[in-house]
Amino acid sequence: MLILGIESSCDDTSVALLNSSKQGHIILFEKTASQIEIHKKYGGVVPEIAGRMHAEKIVPLIEAALEEQPKPDAIAVTAGPGLITGLLVGVEAARALSYALDIPLVRTNHIEGHIYSPLISNDQFLISNKPQNLKSKTTTPHSLLPTPHIQFPALCLIISGGHTELILMKNHGKYKLLGATKDDAAGECFDKTAKLIGLPYPGGPQISKLAETGNPNAINFPRPMLKEENYLFSFAGLKTSALYWLRDNPPLVIPTMKEESLSNFPTHPHPAQAGNTDRDPSSLRLARDDKQRVTINDFCASFEQAIVDVLVAKTIKATIEYKPKTIILAGGVSANKKLRLTLEENIKKLLPTPHLLLPSLKYCMDNGAMIAAAGYYHALKKDFTAWKKIQADPNWELAI
Ligand code: KG4
Ligand code: ZN
Repeated sequence: MLILGIESSCDDTSVALLNSSKQGHIILFEKTASQIEIHKKYGGVVPEIAGRMHAEKIVPLIEAALEEQPKPDAIAVTAGPGLITGLLVGVEAARALSYALDIPLVRTNHIEGHIYSPLISNDQFLISNKPQNLKSKTTTPHSLLPTPHIQFPALCLIISGGHTELILMKNHGKYKLLGATKDDAAGECFDKTAKLIGLPYPGGPQISKLAETGNPNAINFPRPMLKEENYLFSFAGLKTSALYWLRDNPPLVIPTMKEESLSNFPTHPHPAQAGNTDRDPSSLRLARDDKQRVTINDFCASFEQAIVDVLVAKTIKATIEYKPKTIILAGGVSANKKLRLTLEENIKKLLPTPHLLLPSLKYCMDNGAMIAAAGYYHALKKDFTAWKKIQADPNWELAI
């Protein structure tokens, strides 16, 4: 089945054409117009600018996708969640195309797209009974790997700039939300903290790069919600702890830190008052005694470690409770090497070993291919929406 996927929910306009079947997804065309360079100037995504940029790019991308290709059997378009300014552009383009070419429409959820992203890669890391070393530069060629597929029940950890969700997937289209973030998403926490130390948007990959040569034990950042008996997350407090740490350890730590990042620091609180933390305040104080030796790399590594610890611990807890046959890690933050490795190591310790599906780095970020892949499973069931009725919903929740 030929599926055209359209994604425009944030800062990437992305269109892909897939030849999808139960055996897998073959990419016939894919192209993404990234807006990162534009939004970088503002330190984050500006919705109005995003909408205008999507409107500029979407038609040429769709034209390129359909050039010299047979008519798609279905159009899958992201209808939510995301920025309304971007979603409207994708949905309206899909509506027009559906009407003009008489192609059925699949209203696709962005989070569901991320869930299917490991199935579309051509160089993905697949960990099953044959463990692979992600550190190694040589990976098994795709042709030697079994076709990735989801065995149910599957446990999905979806982590991006807007979402941190643990979802139990009982079958295609059947989702139960185990827990989500109460405040900031993991990617948002990476981005906001990166901004504090003068790194450009999006800061997640930059923190992760600097962290590679840092000491993850240099600063005892809190592990929010780690000990709570639920699957909820909270990252706003961790970001605030990072902010206080920087305030209390000024120029020693981050030589490149921008003055303006520090000018809005609250004057009173202790890091331990910065939201929901499980960490004893004295441990932060102890770490600060060692401040002379803490570098920007140590700061990034310690911060990254705190996020990874929480994400992995909650995923392992859910694995023990729900005994999934497949674990899926997806969304922008799933590109984080430390997270991928730590989760892999921890899952391997569990018996019986479920298999872990990770998207290739290329498909961790927003892309039209994952929307087409998710749309395929709806198209199979003829789960279509009439062009007259399709609507964007910026708050569309996949699982409740
Ligand atoms: O899924 P995505 O492309 O867009 C959303 O739907 O939000 O995710 C983008 C997020 C950003 O917050 C970015 O900083 C984060 O993914 N990210 C990373 C890494 N690569 C991207 N965070 C941590 N480590 C990375 N290597
Ligand atoms: Zn996303």
